[in-house]
Amino acid sequence: MSIQQQATPATLKVGVVGIGWAGQQHLKAYSRIEGVEIVAVAGMEDELLAQMKQEYGIPHAFARWEDMIGLEGLDAISVAVPTFLHAPISTAALERGLHVLSEKPLARNGEEGRAMVEAARKAGRVLDVAFNHRRRGDIQKLKAIIDDGRLGRPYYAKGS
Ligand SMILES: NC(=O)c1ccc[n+]([C@@H]2O[C@H](COP(=O)([O-])OP(=O)(O)OC[C@H]3O[C@@H](n4cnc5c(N)ncnc54)[C@H](O)[C@@H]3O)[C@@H](O)[C@H]2O)c1
Repeated sequence: MSIQQQATPATLKVGVVGIGWAGQQHLKAYSRIEGVEIVAVAGMEDELLAQMKQEYGIPHAFARWEDMIGLEGLDAISVAVPTFLHAPISTAALERGLHVLSEKPLARNGEEGRAMVEAARKAGRVLDVAFNHRRRGDIQKLKAIIDDGRLGRPYYAKGS
């Protein structure tokens, strides 16, 4: 197959649970990524939910996350709700075969976090956490400098 004939990459169909500040960042970012289609959104604020649905042209909106993860054809979800809900929503989604991008912190404690990781391994799906600062160019540069041993072993860090 020549380069010109290559098939269009498959579209990743995503859903976002939570429409607060964090959820809106996920919606904005997904809407700008080629090959990603936002097919569902869930949140408990009726007016805002309708607004997000319209703004991003999202076909399905749900008040309950339980209904959203049952949507046929969904590939992955973002979990952008209060932290006590990260584990139950992520685990249920992974068990349904969905990939999950959870907001940080991963969970409330190690026990919940480990259960989420275990669910991802069992399902053979991706569980990632939105440690967004780690993806920043300046932070990655600093990490590379540390990994190269050029700073020695950091024992104290202060950020602002
Ligand atoms: N990555 C970052 O920089 C960053 C920044 C801020 C917050 N966060 C994280 O993002 C998460 C959300 O924070 P936020 O500030 O957007 O919160 P928020 O309270 O503003 O929004 C939470 C959203 O979750 C929805 N929700 C709650 N329960 C629900 C349910 N049962 N079904 C469906 N929707 C439900 C609410 O309706 C709301 O839309 C938190 O875990 C927080 O730690 C991350």
